[in-house]
Amino acid sequence: MAIRPIVLYKTNEAALRCKSEPVSVGSNRTRQLVSDLKDTLLRHPKAIGLAAPQIGVHLRVVVVCFGADSREKPSPPIAIINPTIVEAGRELLDYDGCLSIPGLYAETVRPHFMRLEGLDERENPFEWTLEGFDAVVVHHEVDHLNGVLFIDRVTLPNRFYSEDEAAGVRV
Ligand code: NI
Repeated sequence: MAIRPIVLYKTNEAALRCKSEPVSVGSNRTRQLVSDLKDTLLRHPKAIGLAAPQIGVHLRVVVVCFGADSREKPSPPIAIINPTIVEAGRELLDYDGCLSIPGLYAETVRPHFMRLEGLDERENPFEWTLEGFDAVVVHHEVDHLNGVLFIDRVTLPNRFYSEDEAAGVRV
């Protein structure tokens, strides 16, 4: 079990702006990285996604919890390795927040439909169709792998919300 510190925009924007490299299949590091990402995400009860660069590792691995917009409890974190968004559409407004930019929320436009390819945590290839907030969450995390942050996607510059105002979840 390893809970890793979150890289913060305020103190280390450069680390969040680096583009992450694809993971080599069969690397022992991947299993450890997935485990650290899950442990770290679970340490933050409102968080529903985390990308490797947010713990200082520039490899293309994210963990996400699906079902965060339903009344049910979100799923336990699952890992996605080398994600590729092959199709995305139905762009809608949503609230965004980020563990690397704590306390700040904003309205962004993101796809609410997505076809996603990648490897699951056993490194088996998959192709998933994601809808609604699940697509939003994955889009936010894949952005992290490309050095893109939600503050780059706000609809209204300088219109930010507090946690209470947004009643948001953090990705
Ligand atoms: Ni984030």
